[in-house]
Amino acid sequence: MPTAFITGATAGIGAAFARRLASDGFDLVLLARDAERLERTAADLRERYGVSTETLRADLSSEEGLTAAEERVRKDVDLLVNNAGFGNKGIFLDVPVTDEVTMLRVHCEAVLRLTHAVLPGMLDRGRGGVVNVSSVAAFGTRGTYGASKAWVVNFSRGVAADIAARSRGRVRVMALCPGFVRTEFHERAQMDVSGVPPYLWLKQEDVVDAGLRDLRRGHQVSVPGVQYKTIVGATRLIPPSLLARMTSNAGRRYN
Ligand SMILES: NC(=O)c1ccc[n+]([C@@H]2O[C@H](COP(=O)([O-])OP(=O)(O)OC[C@H]3O[C@@H](n4cnc5c(N)ncnc54)[C@H](OP(=O)(O)O)[C@@H]3O)[C@@H](O)[C@H]2O)c1
Repeated sequence: MPTAFITGATAGIGAAFARRLASDGFDLVLLARDAERLERTAADLRERYGVSTETLRADLSSEEGLTAAEERVRKDVDLLVNNAGFGNKGIFLDVPVTDEVTMLRVHCEAVLRLTHAVLPGMLDRGRGGVVNVSSVAAFGTRGTYGASKAWVVNFSRGVAADIAARSRGRVRVMALCPGFVRTEFHERAQMDVSGVPPYLWLKQEDVVDAGLRDLRRGHQVSVPGVQYKTIVGATRLIPPSLLARMTSNAGRRYN
């Protein structure tokens, strides 16, 4: 049985990855901070899909958590989903700088270190995949969140190119860039998303489906949903200063 390691596997997009990969027959390693919820999630997946599940309680913003996660992904991991992430409430100067640095640790340092730890084994075995969950915010200008997600896209493209010759297409690295998805994300960040029109909401399962399909096809970047493909395409035609004015406040109303 192949093994998938998913960070942020207890809620939202990570939990949707866990359900889908379990139904595809992957054994799972699930990572999050809330131990009790991790155990519940693992037991549910074991029962429903008959796969083996392992849990790793770790905070990816801590050195201890990052080291534990690195050690685990160096073993037999066939698919790594770097998904854990969050939003901070408010614009740059409203957010305590320590919270912004924590975001960079979880969105960038954890993605970098886990990708670095998992790839040598995958390259030796001649197969494997890394999905780094970014956001369509990567293509606009949206504070530290957008900047960290832009880093994820650029990083994933760079690593995919770096390993291309050695992996011969059999080890893949891809950034997955969803738009709005109903999860716990907005509530945790105290965002008011009541004004987001229905056509902009993606289903968790569709995001996972598109991501795994694009990974199979060897894409370096996956943008699920025709509406978001169109928006991202349009951002390439807009001058950067105008784009910054248009996107810096998108989805930024707080409770
Ligand atoms: N929802 C959207 O509209 C949307 C759009 C674009 C991109 N994304 C991206 O999708 C990813 C998943 O977000 P989501 O919407 O599914 O969020 P979510 O429902 O809030 O789930 C977040 C998951 O990450 C875990 N987590 C958070 N901080 C962590 C940390 N420091 N260490 C370890 N685990 C941590 C949470 O569990 P614990 O709290 O127990 O740790 C939970 O399992 C994020 O990277 C987000 O930026 C979301």
